[in-house]
Amino acid sequence: MRRSTVLGHGRTALVTGASRGIGPLIARAIAGQGTRVILTGRSRSDLEAESSELAAAGADVSFIGADLTEPDAAERVAEDIERRHGGVDLLVNNAGGDPLREFHAMTLEENLRTLQLNLIAPVALSRAALDGMLIRGRGHIVNISAMVGRVSFPYTEVYAAAKDGIIGFTRVLRGDYHARGVSASVLILGAIRDAGQGQRMLDEAGMKTSRFMVPAQAVARAVIKAVRKDRAELVVMPGPGRLMRAIMDYFPGLGPAMNRAAGATASMQKIIELREAKADAVTNG
Ligand SMILES: NC(=O)c1ccc[n+]([C@@H]2O[C@H](COP(=O)([O-])OP(=O)(O)OC[C@H]3O[C@@H](n4cnc5c(N)ncnc54)[C@H](OP(=O)(O)O)[C@@H]3O)[C@@H](O)[C@H]2O)c1
Repeated sequence: MRRSTVLGHGRTALVTGASRGIGPLIARAIAGQGTRVILTGRSRSDLEAESSELAAAGADVSFIGADLTEPDAAERVAEDIERRHGGVDLLVNNAGGDPLREFHAMTLEENLRTLQLNLIAPVALSRAALDGMLIRGRGHIVNISAMVGRVSFPYTEVYAAAKDGIIGFTRVLRGDYHARGVSASVLILGAIRDAGQGQRMLDEAGMKTSRFMVPAQAVARAVIKAVRKDRAELVVMPGPGRLMRAIMDYFPGLGPAMNRAAGATASMQKIIELREAKADAVTNG
């Protein structure tokens, strides 16, 4: 079946995590295709600023403030867009992140919040947007995942579980609904520079970016490519990303050794210690 395009005039995209980091760049790239863009996130002031900037550049843009870890948030956001704009054609589940603390130092409640944001919220939003997509016979869901689980990146146990989980979710979703006009793609990101959590972490610790990091703008380009070329999976990292991922899956012991050799383990320990020292200073006045 030939799929209807979900980019361009008369089409609506919802981008989560669009208040800061990589999300605004994704929103700009989609708006650049003439698509109406709805931004979402918790910080209304940041969303307002992003919307104004996009509107000034000629984009058709609006925003909805929402905490996606709240149980009814996905339904509420999807219904709002259905009512005001006739539904979501392109959903980019970009909101996510990791508290970056040692697993044993976090409570189960904190772990569940990480799963909620990185796995449950994208599932709930996909579920909420899918009915309308199936009625219209067109839709595309792009989920943003990460290499962390594949490369055993230090101190990301629960985040890695969520990000690996979303890869499986996307594969099955794509298989089940592709013939009915709704596709799904997953972007598996390595370390990203210039914007987002990785860059913030380096800035916080006064560390330099490494040559293994990819500019955030490349993620925005990859979203457009995934949709236009209807790709099942894209790996966004330097070099042959898909091959790297396959090698990591074949040799699971390689990740920790590579992290130690590349200094990632020591850097992460330093950043965690720095954060703990800051938190202690605040607690003890
Ligand atoms: N940066 C990297 O190196 C990297 C690497 C691999 C994968 N990724 C993935 O790329 C995506 C974007 O990451 P980023 O680096 O741009 O992160 P970021 O700068 O921390 O931005 C995260 C976005 O998610 C939103 N968000 C966080 N908690 C939320 C909640 N409870 N409800 C609704 N929105 C929420 C934030 O907005 P509010 O705070 O306003 O809610 C913000 O817009 C994430 O899925 C991340 O896992 C990033």
